[in-house]
Amino acid sequence: MNHGLPDNDVTIEYYDSDYPSQTLSRFAENFDETTEFQGLRHDVARYMEIASGIGKNLDVLEVCCGTGRIAIPLAKEGHRVTAVDLSPGMLNGFSKNLKQCDEQTQSRVALVNQDATELDLDQQKFDLGIIGFNSLLCIPDFEAQQRCLGRIAAHLKPGGLLVIDAVNPLELSMKGSHVPTPFFTRKHSVSGHVYTRFAMSSPFDADHRQRLHGWYDEVTDGGTIRRRPYSMVWRPIFRHELQLMLQQAGFEIESLDGGHCREPYEGTSPRMFVQARLS
Ligand SMILES: C[S@@+](CC[C@H](N)C(=O)[O-])C[C@H]1O[C@@H](n2cnc3c(N)ncnc32)[C@H](O)[C@@H]1O
Repeated sequence: MNHGLPDNDVTIEYYDSDYPSQTLSRFAENFDETTEFQGLRHDVARYMEIASGIGKNLDVLEVCCGTGRIAIPLAKEGHRVTAVDLSPGMLNGFSKNLKQCDEQTQSRVALVNQDATELDLDQQKFDLGIIGFNSLLCIPDFEAQQRCLGRIAAHLKPGGLLVIDAVNPLELSMKGSHVPTPFFTRKHSVSGHVYTRFAMSSPFDADHRQRLHGWYDEVTDGGTIRRRPYSMVWRPIFRHELQLMLQQAGFEIESLDGGHCREPYEGTSPRMFVQARLS
């Protein structure tokens, strides 16, 4: 989801059901077989593993934190997490999820409403930076993506680690698809209504941008169908482009995996999971 979305945008309303969390989801069955394909099944465990490999009680910066799917489990583990997002609607969802946690966890999270491309947290410096789950791609402009990496670099301690998780664009269709496809059927995290999300995509444009659009069909209490369209733009990044962008922002790449379980990266890998050290 992109800059400038209203707080009542349908993608915000459905976020926790579309992108469920193993630990936070109200309906365990929403964490279904599609979550593997979406790239949500193992990512949080991998962040926990990386953080604990660095140490205890880290200062973690998560930019584009959404509703806390990654940040809240890290805070539960004892890390102090500064969680940044430009959407007040997403941060509102984060606050609601955080209120379900114990007071100590709550006290370890600082929510910040800022644009990651202009991130300014005074003089704060972090051990670990995270821009997870396609979030860099949700800033759909090359220069803005580059500025975001630069602002994260400015907020890491010397030798700090940045982890980026993004879909492997070689696995996407450059031509897109205008055939509406049911993506998944789930329960809405608040109403409990069953809904199906239908997905389509435009061809990549000259700037590598692609529009992802479709609609939600939700079964209401009266048994009628409520249809609501959604639309967002992302800018997938290719492997070598990402590597060069990171180098330009002052990082050295330590590893590139093809998934969240240390799979080696190949052209057919579902993801690009990068660990980069501030040099
Ligand atoms: C795909 S969601 C990921 C949320 C969360 N990290 C997760 O894994 O569930 C992308 C998030 O990036 C946020 N976002 C998009 N552009 C941003 C920007 N320029 N600055 C800060 N947040 C941004 C959106 O509001 C959204 O919450």
